[in-house]
Amino acid sequence: MDKTTVRARVSELISEINEHNYRYYILNSPVIDDVRYDMLVKELEALETQYPDLVQPDSPTQRVGSDLIKEFVSVVHKYPMLSLSNTYSKEELFDFHNRVQKAISGNVEFVSELKFDGVAISLTYTNGRLIRAVTRGDGIQGDDVTANAKTIRSIPLQLRGNNYPVEFEIRGEVFLTRNQFEILNKLRKEEGDQPFANPRNAAAGSLKMQDPAAVDKRGLDCYFYDILGDNLPYNTHYENLQAAKEWGLHIPEYMVRCKTIEDVWGYIAEWETQRTLLPFDIDGVVVKVNSYEQRQALGFTAKSPRWAIAYKYQAQQAATILQTVDFQVGRTGIITPVANLKPVLLAGTVVKRASLHNADIISKLDVRIGDTVFVEKGGEIIPKITGVDHSLRHANSEPLEFISHCPECGTALIRNEGEAGHFCPNEDGCPPQIKGRLEHFISRRAMNIESLGEGKIELLYEKGLVKNAADLYDLKYDDLLGLEKTIIPEEGGKERKVSFREKTVENILDALAASRSVPFHSVLYALGIRHVGETIAKKLCISFGNLDALIAAGTEQLTQIPDIGDRIANSIKDYFSKPEHLQMISRLKEHGLQFKTNIEQEAVSTLLDGRTFVVSGVFSGYSRDGLKQAIVKNGGRVVGSISSKTNFVIAGENMGPEKKKKAEKLGIPIIDEAQFNAMINA
Ligand code: IVH
Repeated sequence: MDKTTVRARVSELISEINEHNYRYYILNSPVIDDVRYDMLVKELEALETQYPDLVQPDSPTQRVGSDLIKEFVSVVHKYPMLSLSNTYSKEELFDFHNRVQKAISGNVEFVSELKFDGVAISLTYTNGRLIRAVTRGDGIQGDDVTANAKTIRSIPLQLRGNNYPVEFEIRGEVFLTRNQFEILNKLRKEEGDQPFANPRNAAAGSLKMQDPAAVDKRGLDCYFYDILGDNLPYNTHYENLQAAKEWGLHIPEYMVRCKTIEDVWGYIAEWETQRTLLPFDIDGVVVKVNSYEQRQALGFTAKSPRWAIAYKYQAQQAATILQTVDFQVGRTGIITPVANLKPVLLAGTVVKRASLHNADIISKLDVRIGDTVFVEKGGEIIPKITGVDHSLRHANSEPLEFISHCPECGTALIRNEGEAGHFCPNEDGCPPQIKGRLEHFISRRAMNIESLGEGKIELLYEKGLVKNAADLYDLKYDDLLGLEKTIIPEEGGKERKVSFREKTVENILDALAASRSVPFHSVLYALGIRHVGETIAKKLCISFGNLDALIAAGTEQLTQIPDIGDRIANSIKDYFSKPEHLQMISRLKEHGLQFKTNIEQEAVSTLLDGRTFVVSGVFSGYSRDGLKQAIVKNGGRVVGSISSKTNFVIAGENMGPEKKKKAEKLGIPIIDEAQFNAMINA
């Protein structure tokens, strides 16, 4: 075959395979069998291997990249990803309808859709090609997960036909079918990994893996429910999604148009029972106004559109027996009671443990060993106990006593006034606290020394090599090489070996050296001061600029910073009052860690690239010029008046009413200072 013929054949194969994918993944009606399909793919692979210059980016062979994702890049959404207002009641659904009808005089058509229980994703297509896939994140900005999204077969790399807009975003939910979830968890148990609590967590975890090839094996799927762009073909939601289906996008077949709210209620009632027959989880129904014009008239609240509502089904519940309670010690010494339950099936998974949170919750529930309890799955990984069937209680049961001493080190527990939790005050002698602090110090968002994760800290601690963060920087090659330990997972499953081979040791020492340039705010967060999370750490760095100034600050100076009250200020003061902490910090300083704000490092970012802002009102943490500078410093643009090209309005105290009206009318998100800070502090 000459090159021209090969080129033509490659194009032909790509179109043919893409068409079969469309029939299989989108229409669910394949026209060839697997063997013939595989033959086409093999032929394409062979030609691409022979002629690498003919490999096209949208070739079906290019779905699974071989590069590992080092770090997910944060991307600001062109259109923020809002949430929906929720309800569990028919009455509130009808209230929603009344509000809509009050604002819109004519007929309103609704679209009822399933509320998929997975993770939201936003895809950008330019000229029909998938350009980017981003997670929801905080709604303003999310993580770029394009390489992972490409592995999902129901996400086309190239759209079909040529009727699609030049650029648009389409949003949907990435999920795992229950069947795929069971297969995955079975495999994880066999390999000694912790099983996922539910399909949603499994989907979320999968999308954030660093190896696209591993994501590919998870068998993720995706449905789309929202399309955004300037040149969409219709002025209605339903019709645009049907058009998107023609372009090859996976649009749910379950969505329907409803003329009345009674029709909507009929849909909700039907799916309440039918949902168990679906191959995937849903947690409710989403009801949306179909017309864009009517949507615009309805506008948005700060967080969600006024033209949509989510009706959620009651969480599924199961009854089981509380067998025993364990008390776990966290890195800050907080004691968490965890219930061990008689295994019970709940929403497709077996539940064995549930959090009991603290002593207050235990007494409020009035729960005892041997009781029949109700467990529910909420948003958390660990299900919670929501009630007790006291009528089934055994006559000789006794109230559940909260422990008085630490189960790990025997120290008497303390409970501060006004706080729900008990904690162990033995910070420097209680093993899970020492190990927990070290694990926190090396974690990704802190010092990012992940090569020390997965059991390695535990081993170093057991060998007496590290007790605090500064000890990590004294480690030498010969201290580490050859260390070994076998880990037996708590929940059954295969044993795992932690071992320090040559390459591992080199990686660890390199990562420790690299961590010397981690910025001050991350170092401050890494210290693990109680109540000082990432955001507070950043605020402290901005206000004080260096650690000595922070140490010298009085409570009054600290509480002047927005969001810092007495509780956080006291915790900071308390931390720096301890000589052992100051000594450790001085060792970390000697090792070259950053303890002051580095203007070069902190000032410039491209986080707001291409975004236009209007600023209105008075702000507490910025002067108006200061806020504008912050926008520009991070790559954004500031303009004086709102137009359809404005991306965000930042509203302070006393925002101009005209500006507010205009922003709402045009559907431009109004964000406050805190949301803006979250955008630039990513
Ligand atoms: S519409 C502005 N439709 O629910 C409205 N969302 O609480 C955009 N979800 O983050 C969302 N199924 O992840 C919409 N059919 C559906 C949905 C759906 C699931 C999720 C989505 C969103 C959350 C909103």
